[in-house]
Amino acid sequence: MSIERFLTGITTSGTPHLGNYVGSIRPAVRASLRDGVQSFYFLADYHALIKVDEPARIQRSTLEIAASWLAAGLNPDRVVFYRQSDVPEIPELTWFLTCVLGKGVLNRAHAYKAAVDKNTAAGVDADAEVSAGLFMYPVLMGADILMFNAHKVPVGRDQVQHIEMARDMAHSFNHRYGPHFVPPDAVIEDTVATLPGLDGRKMSKSYDNTIPLFAPRAQLQKLINSIVTDSRAPGEPKSTEGSALFQIYQAFASEAETDALRQAYASGISWADAKHTVFERIDQEVAPMRETYQVLINDPAKIEAILKAGASKARAIAMPFMATLRQAVGLRNLDQQVNTDHRPVKLAMPTFKQYRETDGQFYFKLVSADGQLLLQSQGFASPKVAGQTIADLQTRGMAALAALAAMTHLVQPLNEVQREMIAAALQVLVDAKAK
Ligand code: TRP
Repeated sequence: MSIERFLTGITTSGTPHLGNYVGSIRPAVRASLRDGVQSFYFLADYHALIKVDEPARIQRSTLEIAASWLAAGLNPDRVVFYRQSDVPEIPELTWFLTCVLGKGVLNRAHAYKAAVDKNTAAGVDADAEVSAGLFMYPVLMGADILMFNAHKVPVGRDQVQHIEMARDMAHSFNHRYGPHFVPPDAVIEDTVATLPGLDGRKMSKSYDNTIPLFAPRAQLQKLINSIVTDSRAPGEPKSTEGSALFQIYQAFASEAETDALRQAYASGISWADAKHTVFERIDQEVAPMRETYQVLINDPAKIEAILKAGASKARAIAMPFMATLRQAVGLRNLDQQVNTDHRPVKLAMPTFKQYRETDGQFYFKLVSADGQLLLQSQGFASPKVAGQTIADLQTRGMAALAALAAMTHLVQPLNEVQREMIAAALQVLVDAKAK
């Protein structure tokens, strides 16, 4: 079975709350336990610098988020769990991608456009108070994803455009320098609830309506007691529709428990009793994790060691890959063989190579721009058929490949990454032919 790589980043700009837990931490920890997936989770602290200029807050948030994920059951031996700023290859790749992405694409990024629209409406300079970091945010995020050639990126709807931009960067780079990147797909977690906050709006630190995930028991109770309700008296039936309290309960309770509370609403449970039920149910899930969290938070050296171990796993992938990419773009040792040809340097292209083996049969292979073997054919009795097959692949790309595979002209079964690499290489050739 081919391994699918999932990757997601968490900006280290705040304290995890129940909404983060239900919407991101809990589903991610569960997903990381599945077989056949390799998960990358990282603390996006370079991204945090765009929003937060309080050093102590960045450091504290990094500690709290790392401790929260670990307390929620993330097993650092099963996944690659690291801090973005421990992987210097990421900012390096950011620059490579910056050089292949159209500036216009960034002009159209939602977050940047929103800032510009706001400034324009206020009658000030369009870019007032907009840092170049905010503008470049999507490129850094693209580098996060492409560095590990992640296939799937679980994100909220608001991040989908960033994944599309990462695909754009992958294609632009592959087109110039050969098939190095897998264009990633967003995975939108629609089944995952967005939790309402204390005031009934979406739980979010920008609304200041959050319940910290690991608030002490007494504070948790106090906060749950402050969730907005209507003014219905004990004994009056209550509506679950639009009840923030009910929705929060639902995110933690089983179906049977949820049905029971729905019944209780209908038969007039008091708000005080309903809140008590919700509080106890949440505390039941959170209390054991809270204990682990407290132990971890009091042992920052241990978390630091876990992140450092994660960084070395991440860099074991990032360093050799970055070396390949430097080579691909021409950042090379000068004692390597130099192209002394004064004609314009041709773009490196994937190529088909045709040859005859000692068995008398005719073969071909597809080699990437940087010399990697992508595809190896079976033997053909006729050189003409082998040649036609190549021509077909150069014009029809992956469609032709599917037919070939069915005719068992391919030697190796292809995994997901190989397929992506081949698809990208064939696309370069198809595009070149079309010109
Ligand atoms: N931008 C994401 C957010 O605000 C965080 C993030 C940074 C991220 N890099 C990423 C998410 C890469 C997914 C993949 O939520």
